[in-house]
Amino acid sequence: MSIKDPSRQLAEDWWETRIIDMQPGVIRYRGYPVEELIGNVGFAQMIWLMLRGELPSRGQADLLEAALMAAVDHGPQAPSIAIARMATTCGVGLNSAMASAVNVLGDVHGGAGEQAVELYLDIASRVDAGTAMAQAVEQALDAFVDAHGKFISGFGHRFHPVDPRTAPLLALVDRAATEGIVDGRFAMIGRAVEACLEARKGKRIPMNIDGATAVIYAELGFPPPLARGLFCLSRSVGILAHAWEQTQQGGRNKGPIPRQFIGSYSGHPPRSLKETP
Ligand SMILES: CC(C)(COP(=O)(O)OP(=O)(O)OC[C@H]1O[C@@H](n2cnc3c(N)ncnc32)[C@H](O)[C@@H]1OP(=O)(O)O)[C@@H](O)C(=O)NCCC(=O)NCCS
Repeated sequence: MSIKDPSRQLAEDWWETRIIDMQPGVIRYRGYPVEELIGNVGFAQMIWLMLRGELPSRGQADLLEAALMAAVDHGPQAPSIAIARMATTCGVGLNSAMASAVNVLGDVHGGAGEQAVELYLDIASRVDAGTAMAQAVEQALDAFVDAHGKFISGFGHRFHPVDPRTAPLLALVDRAATEGIVDGRFAMIGRAVEACLEARKGKRIPMNIDGATAVIYAELGFPPPLARGLFCLSRSVGILAHAWEQTQQGGRNKGPIPRQFIGSYSGHPPRSLKETP
C-alpha cells in the first residue's frame, strides 16, 4: 500500500464527496456506473439518487415526479416568470435569465414550501410528544405566526379561490398511503392546518401548490430546505420555457408594464437646485 504525500491527500480531500466518483473514463453516481443508469433511470429517480444516496421505489419516484411536474409554471404574472422574460429582453443569455428568476423564489413566492414542511414537522413532533392533533395544530400555528407573521406559508393564493393543483396532488398522496408507499400523516396534517385556518379566519384560506408539494416532500422524508431546492428545479422548467419564448419573440428592454403606463410618483413636488440653500 502506497502512502500518499500529505499535501496531495489534502488536495484530493478538499471537495470530498459521496455523490460522484469521477476519474478518467469512469463516472459513477452513488456507486452506480452512468452506463447502467442511462436509459434505465428517469430524471426524478436521478434527483432522488443524487439527494438521498439511494434509488427511490417506483411509487416514491412517481410522487416526487408529480410534485415536480405540478409546479413548473404559473405564467408571467408570477414574479419569477416575469423576471425571466424581462431579463431576456436585456440581452443576457438563458443562463442569466434563469438565475435572475430563481433568485426571487423566496419565502413568499415559491420558497414557501420550505416553511410549510417546517410547520408540518413541528405539528408532527408535537403529536409525537402526546399533544392531540387539533391542539398541536393550534400551537404550531401560534408559534409560526410569532416567528414569521400572520401569513401561513403554503396557504392562500392571490388568483385562485381554490388552487387547482392541490386536490390532485393530495389524491395521489392518499392513493400512495393506501398502497403503503407513504403513511399519509402529512396529508392529514396539511388538511388539519387548512381546517384550523378556516376556523380562525372565518373563511377558507386554501392550501396552495407550495403547501401541497410540501405535503409530498414531507411524506417522502425530504428535509425543509430541500422543499425550496426542489421547487427551484421544478420552476426552472417554466422559467426556461418563458425565457426561450421571449427570446424568440424578441423585444428590447421590456419593463414590468407597457411604456404607455408610467408608475405613480408620490415624492417631493418639482423644485430647483437654485432654490435649495
Ligand atoms: C399568496 C399570498 C401572498 C396571497 O395573498 P393575498 O391574496 O394577497 O391575501 P391578502 O393579503 O389580500 O389577504 C386576504 C386575507 O386573507 C388572509 N390570508 C391570506 N393568506 C393567508 C395565509 N397564508 N395565512 C393566513 N391568512 C392568510 C390575510 O390575512 C387577509 O386577512 P385579513 O383581511 O383578515 O388581514 C398569501 O396568501 C401568502 O402570503 N401566503 C403564504 C405564502 C405562500 O404560500 N406563497 C405561495 C403562493 S402560491
